[in-house]
Amino acid sequence: MERTEALALLSRHVQGVSLRSHCIATGAVMREAAAALGADPARWETIGILHDIDFEEVGGDMQRHGIRGAEILAAAGVDGEICSVVTRHNHQLFGGYTAPLEVVLQAADSVSGLVIACALVKGGAVTGVTEKTVRKKFREKGFAAGCDRERILPVEAVMPLPRFYDCAIRGITRVKEDLGLH
Ligand SMILES: [Fe+2]
Repeated sequence: MERTEALALLSRHVQGVSLRSHCIATGAVMREAAAALGADPARWETIGILHDIDFEEVGGDMQRHGIRGAEILAAAGVDGEICSVVTRHNHQLFGGYTAPLEVVLQAADSVSGLVIACALVKGGAVTGVTEKTVRKKFREKGFAAGCDRERILPVEAVMPLPRFYDCAIRGITRVKEDLGLH
């Protein structure tokens, strides 16, 4: 399933603008990280776009989050590996991620909000966000407090943190118009 198709499926299940933006941003970070790692950028972006597809439907029930998402995706004909990754990305039920795809998904899920928050304090200009900005804001615990820093750090087993931040900024810059940023 390619990006356009994934976005169409997402829009059938997610109505909230901020959740849609979160999914698009996470997908964009996944694409850049895949490219940096020699993995499949289109596939990783699709996973990022779809990972929270059930979030509105489960309505905060974290015992169902991910599991229900995989059911939605399987019904839409999405392959089993993607369904399994979506099930397992719920770190409250699973964890102990070692596969680069799963490690990066945890980090992308979290860093996307951090980079968007960095852009918002610059008047929405993601083009003004640098790797140094993200590093500095990472250390300010009160900033984007919903962004769980502990889910980002394990990415260092896969690639150096500064390189991951560069991927995140590049990815979010690529989809900036979709996120209402510039
Ligand atoms: Fe997410």
